[in-house]
Amino acid sequence: MHEALYGPAGFFVRARPASHFLTSAQSPLFARALARLIGELDEQLGRPDPFDVVDVGAGGGELLANLQPLLPGRARLRPVEIGDHIPDGIVGLLLATEWLDNVPLDLAQDGRYLHDGEPVSAPDAEWIQRWWPNPEGTVEIGRERDKAWAKAVSHLNRGLALTVDYGHFLGTRPSAPTLAGFRDGREVEPLLDGSTDLTCHVAIDSAAAATGLPWTVLTQREALHWLGVNGTRPPLELAYHDPAGYLRALAEASEAATLTDPNGLGGHWWLLHPLGCAL
Ligand SMILES: C[S@@+](CC[C@H](N)C(=O)[O-])C[C@H]1O[C@@H](n2cnc3c(N)ncnc32)[C@H](O)[C@@H]1O
Repeated sequence: MHEALYGPAGFFVRARPASHFLTSAQSPLFARALARLIGELDEQLGRPDPFDVVDVGAGGGELLANLQPLLPGRARLRPVEIGDHIPDGIVGLLLATEWLDNVPLDLAQDGRYLHDGEPVSAPDAEWIQRWWPNPEGTVEIGRERDKAWAKAVSHLNRGLALTVDYGHFLGTRPSAPTLAGFRDGREVEPLLDGSTDLTCHVAIDSAAAATGLPWTVLTQREALHWLGVNGTRPPLELAYHDPAGYLRALAEASEAATLTDPNGLGGHWWLLHPLGCAL
C-alpha cells in the first residue's frame, strides 16, 4: 500500500487528490466554517502572533488557499505534504483532513497478514486484541495511523488538533474490509500498481487514544451545524428582489447539503484535541 501510494510510481506522487475525488477541504464553505472555528480558538489563545494553521496532508493546498483571505494577517499558514517536516511548537490549529485514511496499513485475517500469510507481529496482535477484538473477517490494523496521528499532534504546543475523516469505533467496526480505490472521481477496484487511490476507514478511537490527550468527537454534520452551516434554502421572494443573490444563496445551500449529508461527507468524524485551551 505504501509503495502503491507513495513509491516512485505511486498514486499521490503523480496525482493531485482534487482531480480524483471530492473532499470537504475543497469547499469554500468548509473553509468559512473553519475560519469561524479559528476565530474562536484565536480568542481562547489570547490572539497569538503568529497564529499557526498547519495542514498535514494538504494535497493541492485548496483549503489553505480558501482560508487565507478569511484570517487575520497574524495567521501563518503551512501546508505539509509527504516528505515535509511538521513544524515544531505549533500555537494555533493543527489540521488533517482525509489524511489518516491514506496512511498505509496492513490487513490481517485469523492472526495472519493478508499480503504474505505470516503471523501478525506482537504489537499488531496487541492492537487487534485492544481495538478490534473478535473480528468476524478482515482486520485493518490501525497502528501506523495511530503512530502518525500521535506524532503529528506532538508538534502542537497550544491550541487545537483536528482531524476529519471517515471511520469507526470499538463496537461498530465493519465486518467487511473498507479498503477502496478511487480514480477520476469514481470508486474503482483498489489496485496496488499506483493507478488508484487506496483508502481504508480510520479506527478513530485508537488514533485518539494514541495521543494520550483528552479528545472529543462529533460528526461533520454536527460540527458544521455548530459552526453555523445549516443548508437552509433561501426564500423564493429573494429571487424577485435579488436574482443573483438568490442563485448564490441556493448554490451555498446545495454546498452545505453536500457537506452535511449524513450518508456522505456529513458522516465524517471530527476528532478534536484541545491543548491548553477550552473549546
Ligand atoms: C486524500 S488526500 C487529502 C488532501 C486534502 N487534505 C483534502 O482533504 O482534500 C491525502 C493527502 O495526504 C498526503 N500524505 C500522506 N501521507 C503523508 C505524510 N506522512 N505527511 C504529509 N502528507 C501526507 C498525500 O500525499 C495526499 O496528498
